Amino acid sequence: MTKTAQVELLDDVLSRYEGSQNPRLREITEAAIRHLHAFVEEVGLQRDEWFAGIQFLTATGQKCDDVRQEFILLSDTLGVSTLVEIVTHGGVEGSTENTVLGPFYVPGSPQRARGETMLVDPDEGDRVVIRGTVTDIDGNPIAGATLDCWQNATAGFYAVQQPEGQSAVNLRGIYTTDADGTYEIRTVRPVPYPIPSDGPAGDLLKAHGRGWMRPGHTHIWVRADGYKDLITHVFDAETAYLREDAVFGVRDSLVRRFEPDENGELATTFDVVLDKR
Ligand SMILES: [Fe+2]
Repeated sequence: MTKTAQVELLDDVLSRYEGSQNPRLREITEAAIRHLHAFVEEVGLQRDEWFAGIQFLTATGQKCDDVRQEFILLSDTLGVSTLVEIVTHGGVEGSTENTVLGPFYVPGSPQRARGETMLVDPDEGDRVVIRGTVTDIDGNPIAGATLDCWQNATAGFYAVQQPEGQSAVNLRGIYTTDADGTYEIRTVRPVPYPIPSDGPAGDLLKAHGRGWMRPGHTHIWVRADGYKDLITHVFDAETAYLREDAVFGVRDSLVRRFEPDENGELATTFDVVLDKR
């Protein structure tokens, strides 16, 4: 094909969307088509390679079920999830940074009292405390904000990954801020863990010699009336893989060091600043 034929083809394809009644869907679809055509041209994609790609995406879909979302893993490991978080958040300067949701969030965690541990099952890990204050951008405390938390056990797995091996509510809990905006979470020290590598997303990592470990972190989804949701992590400063997170989720502003507090508990402070809606 000549360059002209390629340009003509792209123009023809795009022209079929001129009658679209959905401006945003049209914008997204047309951009996807333009970039897809440019990608095929850039690498001189061959027919067998395109078909291999189709088979790869087919296998990715077939790997998905109620608890396994292979497309999220693929998006995460390509850095796209993090890019979408950056683009979506558009946070005001000074607000707490967000990061990826990840594939292990389960709605409906139990409400936990201030300071209660969300550890339900036996676990050999270090006990830690995460405490802080949720405020708006001007430093005003936000009462009644909820912190929906989830993390893995010392064996490396989230409860949702081990329906036979852990209680369903192990290391999950929703904490609520007091009138002064403060909260206190007790848990175990999160540990590094492998993202599932037994599917197409893992195969792609292995094909390129990449790793599939994530640094230890606790997930927190903060919600408060009138404020934008914040989906973030607290990373342990002493965890491995901080600089080679398989899903590119680490933000320096989210890394915290656990140190003994006045009661001898390993504790850290994680203050949260929310953007107004
Ligand atoms: Fe995680």
